[in-house]
Order: sequence, then structure tokens, then C-alpha cells
Amino acid sequence: MMRTEETTPKPSKQLSHRFEGIAKVTGKIKYAAEFSGPFPKADLAYAFLVQSTIPSGNVVSINHSAADRAPGVIAILTPFNTPKLNPGPTQPPARRNLSLLQDTEVHYNGQPIALVVANSLNEAKSAAAMLQIRYAARPSRVSFNEHLDDARWPTNPGKEPAGNHRGDLQAGFSKSAVIVEETYITPIQHHNPMEPHGTIAWWEGGKLNVYDATQYISGVRTSLAKTLNVPVDYVHVMNPVVGGGFGSKGSMWSHVPLCAMAAKVTGKPVKLSLERCQMFGPVGGRPSTINKIKLGASADGRLLAMQHDVLMNASIMEDFVEHAESPTKSLYMSEANSVSAKVVEVNLGISTFTRAPGEAPGTAVLEIAMDELAEKLKMDPVELRLANYAERDPSHDRPWTNKHLRECYRQSAQRFGWSKRKATPGSVTEGNALIGYGMATATYPANRSAAQAVVRMLPGGRMFVGSGTQDLGTGMYTIMAQQAAAGLGIDPELVDVKLGDSTLPKAPVSGGSQSSASVLPAIQDATTQLKLKLADLAIGDAQSPLHGLRTLDIEAKDGRLIHKNNPSQSDSLVNLIARNGGTPVEAIGSAEPSESQGAMTANSWGAVFAEVSVDKDTRMVKVRRVVGTYDIGTLLNDKTGINQLMGGIVWGVSFALYEQAHIDPVYGRVVNESLAEYHVPVNADIGEIDATVLNIPDLKFNPIGSRGIGEIGITGAAAAIANAIYNATGKRIREYPITPDKIMMA
Ligand code: MOS
Repeated sequence: MMRTEETTPKPSKQLSHRFEGIAKVTGKIKYAAEFSGPFPKADLAYAFLVQSTIPSGNVVSINHSAADRAPGVIAILTPFNTPKLNPGPTQPPARRNLSLLQDTEVHYNGQPIALVVANSLNEAKSAAAMLQIRYAARPSRVSFNEHLDDARWPTNPGKEPAGNHRGDLQAGFSKSAVIVEETYITPIQHHNPMEPHGTIAWWEGGKLNVYDATQYISGVRTSLAKTLNVPVDYVHVMNPVVGGGFGSKGSMWSHVPLCAMAAKVTGKPVKLSLERCQMFGPVGGRPSTINKIKLGASADGRLLAMQHDVLMNASIMEDFVEHAESPTKSLYMSEANSVSAKVVEVNLGISTFTRAPGEAPGTAVLEIAMDELAEKLKMDPVELRLANYAERDPSHDRPWTNKHLRECYRQSAQRFGWSKRKATPGSVTEGNALIGYGMATATYPANRSAAQAVVRMLPGGRMFVGSGTQDLGTGMYTIMAQQAAAGLGIDPELVDVKLGDSTLPKAPVSGGSQSSASVLPAIQDATTQLKLKLADLAIGDAQSPLHGLRTLDIEAKDGRLIHKNNPSQSDSLVNLIARNGGTPVEAIGSAEPSESQGAMTANSWGAVFAEVSVDKDTRMVKVRRVVGTYDIGTLLNDKTGINQLMGGIVWGVSFALYEQAHIDPVYGRVVNESLAEYHVPVNADIGEIDATVLNIPDLKFNPIGSRGIGEIGITGAAAAIANAIYNATGKRIREYPITPDKIMMA
């Protein structure tokens, strides 16, 4: 392995356990809706969100006279009495058009149309059932498939234009010896983190405090300020731990300002927690995509033309584009390449980011097409990918910051035992099961944004690090402790961490797998400054053994400041701070992507291999093994890092075999809005997962050499399984999820 162009940064000592692990498993951790605020517990009121039961039309009236008299009811907010709010687009990256009871329009079934506030949740729910709601229904369109002719370019295409073309597509297909042209479909999915969305809001004078289950405290802060017409400085958002987000908590949804408004109207602290069924609609989901993919290749397997056109459902309220075409632009070298994405408006809730938006469905479909191409070419699927290896980013015609995908293929293939694969489908059986092997490429962009962090050297040898970032359950606390400790050369066990509070220095949304890549460089900057401040303190302290030295002669190690050239001359941080009167020394650091990063593309990579067994009679699929090797730069923590990749692979299994929101064709409601009927895998569904990383730093991306890992695990995994099912059965299923009925009917 060539590693000469990169130098490995000094490895920081890892925490071997999750920073907040013991608090979590002993039940001491509090999630947003579990907090008690600085108010008497008995004051807390409970809000229940009332949702529309028609997909399109108007609320004509809401008669709440019976509900008003129901026990415990404090207030009922409807479109006819809610104070004026600013419903306009909220904080980027998402520009949500919220449902804030400002008009009577109903755009989808499940839209928030009222809020009942009572002394208890049961009283609020029971009063909500007494509301007499009259609608004037309008014709609706809830089935995306029936309106494909109405597909249009999105009005809010995001970072990239919706179409992207290079080379001469027709010429490429004309000279191709082999062509694959098929349609591939992915379903609507809903995130379903273990922790549903929840908010507690209370006002102190004109100031608003909220606990909110969010991936973006500072985004909720600015969005609340805007929506409620209060100064940003008057809004305080807290969220110390998140029970999963996956994108659903990446932007503020309607229930958050409604909860704050209810607190204002009632003059009480109010809690609003969504029920599981309320997670299917009002807080986003992944749209369904229909992908027309055409690949043309020479007889020796070189891609000459690639075309990928996507249609997806979008809410009438707002365009959101799932860029499933994105990997087709840059995953492989091809002379000609054309992609597009269009939306079809329907009366459904707003779509949003869902783990690996774009790349998750994009790899799920492209990597089946590549498997089909390999078969037609009679080429090994890995060889086909190697024959089209993109040494540069072909969509921007610029270099990668670094890329070691070849090594991922090699290591995964070896650990998996790919050489034992039989190319002819259905050739391997075990008892009543057909056994198949499949593989696919994983890919996800590496993102980072401006971030800040504060560090403090405290009395007694402990240290503090804080940043207004979030921990989604991913390990942010753990790696923040490590990074701060590494900067001062102390044990990570001696670091106190605070995050999830908008009074801390600002950090970006925990989305796009960017938190560690953004926040850790800011901590690094902060500790560099802190070290200098501490050194200066020692130099100016007549009682310090380092008195009078130059700053550059001093380094920090093992809880001490040390004379570089004479290590016996040193001062302990404990003594230094004690002599400072016990006053902590503080530094604030910041980091942002450099200008020159625009000249390169930063991306992560992986190779994922799957073995399935398919029962000959029932066609039930069991994913026996998944092997994934990922090139994600520096791995910051073995436990929390590999854990995220495994979690991504588990969702890949779910994508391949189970998940799909079923929409009622008349009423437009998600019919299976529970975890009993919206299937996700449980432990018994998951076989062996072997995830590993190359651990090669990417120092052109950021000073810690680490790219994000929250999302790449899901990419490629679904296609590897789909391809393994084909290898087992000879049935090519091009519509996810691959359920037994589809295999039987194929
Ligand atoms: Mo992630 S879907 O960007 O939270």
C-alpha cells in the first residue's frame, strides 16, 4: 500500500468506551422530552398534535366546544384562533414550508391542523378526539405512479443543477458492444429513529427556552426566532443527546414552533411529543424514486456511456430532491454521461434528507445495473468496477483529495472469499436454500462546515471542551473528549464534554456526515491556543520551573508542560492552574474548509460484499454475511466508528428486504404507520457483519485526516444483497424492497 504522500498524524489516545455509555445503559441519560425544566413539575402542560384526515382541501370549521369543557383542557389552537406566525421558509439547509395553523389549507393527510393543550397527555388526546372538524375536500393526487407525465424540473434543486451532461451520449451508446437498459424503483421510507421527535418549551419573560430532539440546535434556534418573531438571542435550544435522527431531525418541523406558541398562549411550559404514528408524514421521509438507467460498454468492459434519469414524488408544499442520480455522475469513468432528476407533485408530506440522501437509493439502483452489465460482458463484477475506476472526479474534472477504493475491493473480496463465487446463478445450494454472493461499491461525499469550540484547563487536572454540536448516538462526546485530550497531552478520561446547547460556540447541523470533520478541527485549533496560553502563563510565573523560557520551547505531555530539550524541566497543569488562583484558562477555536478545497473533491469509498440464502419454497431471504471495507480517512474511535458503519449496513439490509411506506390510494395516508407494520430488521434478521476501514488519513480534506462515516455504511449494501439474491436465484428484482412475493413472481 502506498502511503508515502501522506503522513499519519500523531494518533490520539482513544476512549475504549462510549463517553456517555454508562449513563445511557443505567437510564440516567435524558432525551429531549424527558427533561424537567426550572419550573414546578405540576406546571407542565401536554400538547397533542391533531392531524388532517383528508389529503387535500380546506378546514371549514373546528367545533371545540365539547373539547373545551373536557377535563384538564387548557387551550385549543386551530387555524381560526392561532396568533400570527411567520410560516415562510426556515433555516437552510432545508427550507421548510411549515404547517403553523395560519390558514385552512390541507395539502396532505396527516398535516398538523390543530393543537390541544391539557394538564395531562391523556386529557389532551381524549379532548382531541372530541373535536368536530369539517372539511371541504378537493380532488387529490396521492399516487406518484399515476402522474409521471406531470414530472417537472425541481424549483429548489439544492447544490447542483438537476441535469448534468458530458460527452456525446448517443455516440457512446452507438459504439457500445453491450447495453443494459432497465428501470429500477425505490420506495418511500420513513426514518423512525428510536427517539421520536419531542419538544419542551417555556418562556421566561420574552425569552424562549426549548429542549428539542434535533440534529441542529442552532438551526432550530434561528428558525424559531424567525417563525415566532423574536430576536435570535432570546431563544435557547438544548439537546444533550439524540436518540437517532437520520435526517428527520435535520430541520425544524411544524410541531416545534407550535409547541412554543402553545407555551406562549397558555403561559405554561408545554411538552409536545410525537407518537410513533405521527412520525410518518409531518416530519419528512425519503421519496420514492423511479430510475431509468442505461449503461453502454465496450466488449472489454469500458463504460462508454451512462444515462440515469430519476423521477420522484415531491410534496405539493415543497420540492425536495433525492439525488439518486448523483453516484452515476462520478462513481465510474465513462466518456459520456448524462443524469437528471425530476419531481412529481403529490398530496403527501414533505420529503427530506434520509441517511445518505441521494447515494443510498442511487447506489442501490446503479450497482444492480453494473451487476447486470458485468453478467452480459461475462466479466467478474469486481473486475468491471476496476476497469472503470475513476482516478479523478469525472463530474467536476478535478482530483480527489485521496482515494483508496482499489484497496477496499481487494480487502473485502479477500475477507469475504469472493474467489469462491460461482458466476452462474442458482449453482450453490445448501439443503433447501439457494446461496448467492453479491457485491457493490459504497460511496458518500465528505462534507465539512465552519465550526467553533471552547476548551478550558480546569483546576485539579481536568479539562473542559464544549461545542454547539449534537450527538445523535454516534459518538460525538467520545471523540470530542479524545481530541481535546490529545491537544493537551492528557488522558481522555480527564475531559468533561458539553454539547447540544445553543449557548456554546456554534457548530453545523449534524447532517451530511460532517460533525466530526467540522468540529474536531475547531477543537484542535482551540487546544493549540490553549497550550500557548498555558505556556505563557508558566513562562510569566516566577514559581514555575518553566519561568522565562520561550513559548516554542514548551510542549504539553502527560498532564505537564515540558521543556522540549530538557524534559526534566517541567510544570504540572494541576500546579500551574492552582498557582493561577484556581482560575481556569480558556481558549476558543474555529475551523472551516479552506479555499483550495474547491479544487478537489473529497469523497469516501467502500466495497461491500454480501452472502444470502434464499429458501427454495418460501423465497424468504436471509442475509448471512456482509463484509465491508471503507476508505474514510482516519478512524477516530474503533468502537463508535465501526458501530456507525455496522448501523449503516443494517439499514442497507432493511432497504434491500423490508422497508416501504404504503400509501392508501384514496386517502393518501401511510397505512403502515407503526413499527409493527413498517418493517425494519430486528437482531434475528441480521447475520454476521464484518466492517473495517483502511484508516489512511486524508489530510487534504482536514487537519485530522478524517472524513465522515455516519452515512456511507448504508450505501452499496442494498445492491450487494440484491445482486446476491440474483446470484442465488437467477431472479433479477429491480424494485425494492425485495420481498418473497417479488422473487416468486419474477
Ligand atoms: Mo443526514 S440524512 O444528512 O442527517
